Amino acid sequence: MSERLLPDWGWRCILQARDTDWAASRATSFMVEGVRIDIHAGGAWNCDAPVADETARMLDLFLPWVAAPGPLTIGQLGQSLDGRIATESGASHYINGLEARTHLHRLRALVDAVVVGVGTVNADDPQLTVRHVSGPNPVRVVLDPRGRAHAASKLFTDGAAPTLQVIGAALASPAHDPRAGSGGASYRRVGLAADAHGFDPAALIALLHGAGYRRILIEGGGLTVSRFLAAGRLDRLHLLVAPMLIGSGRPGLSLPLITGLDEALRPQSRHFMCGADSLYDLSFSGRTVASSSAIARPSCAPAPAMPADPANRPGPEAARVPD
Ligand SMILES: NC(=O)c1ccc[n+]([C@@H]2O[C@H](COP(=O)([O-])OP(=O)(O)OC[C@H]3O[C@@H](n4cnc5c(N)ncnc54)[C@H](OP(=O)(O)O)[C@@H]3O)[C@@H](O)[C@H]2O)c1
Repeated sequence: MSERLLPDWGWRCILQARDTDWAASRATSFMVEGVRIDIHAGGAWNCDAPVADETARMLDLFLPWVAAPGPLTIGQLGQSLDGRIATESGASHYINGLEARTHLHRLRALVDAVVVGVGTVNADDPQLTVRHVSGPNPVRVVLDPRGRAHAASKLFTDGAAPTLQVIGAALASPAHDPRAGSGGASYRRVGLAADAHGFDPAALIALLHGAGYRRILIEGGGLTVSRFLAAGRLDRLHLLVAPMLIGSGRPGLSLPLITGLDEALRPQSRHFMCGADSLYDLSFSGRTVASSSAIARPSCAPAPAMPADPANRPGPEAARVPD
């Protein structure tokens, strides 16, 4: 074959890897469009046909956690260079370009559940479905401890995918059902104990795992992603940074105060271009910023950067071993 395999082919490989039982397999091989790919647990892959650079980058980006056993919680934020995710009035469409938005839809297609805070539901009225790429819709989860989500929100009414509204335990009675729409059987509501900061991320993850949702995307907004990161409950975080300065507005990450930079988080980091935006793929190991003694010190070994020079790309026979 002389033509290089394009991203659509790579995406089909990733979707197939998503559905592999990695607890039972150390490696798998399958044919996609007549081309064989071998994928090893942990993300190494090889293919005996030439793969386009963009396709190779996509496999490198996703397979380390898609081709892995066990549960995973990944956060994402699309932000400006100065760390804003929306204007003060809540406008966030769009900070990132189409490629970054497509990446977000890929993340959704690879998880079982996508989680947003009620601030995002009321500001954006999002659908949280997979539309820019092929793939399944995740269950949509709304964190709403005080039951203030707008009842007419699409998540509750469009029936496009199941929606789970998590509300404060004290509100979890039929008399407080805020849903006015026609979501029908695709809508469920569950009560969970909440404190002044909302739900305990660990309790929320346990709830979702108990319901069979093991891969979880914390999609936003800033408060929600920050709370999960501060609690040490993010395994990975994808920061999509747009070359834009907003200068005011809603912050992305807001973490507890630290005094010295030795207390700052320094996750393993890989960098990819996503159109005009920069994607930072950050890997944590259950680190918490709430207690400095609990912060694992960073590894000195830099995470491998993606080669920018096409000359560094694999030749006709592609083989990759990610971090
Ligand atoms: N650029 C992006 O990637 C992106 C993604 C999503 C959203 N957004 C933007 O972000 C803005 C909303 O973000 P936001 O930070 O203001 O709000 P948010 O994170 O969407 O929602 C925060 C609210 O969720 C509830 N909550 C329950 N448990 C929580 C927990 N464990 N952690 C955090 N929140 C919990 C709380 O509601 P109560 O106050 O009722 O207790 C809290 O105030 C919107 O303007 C939206 O457009 C941007």
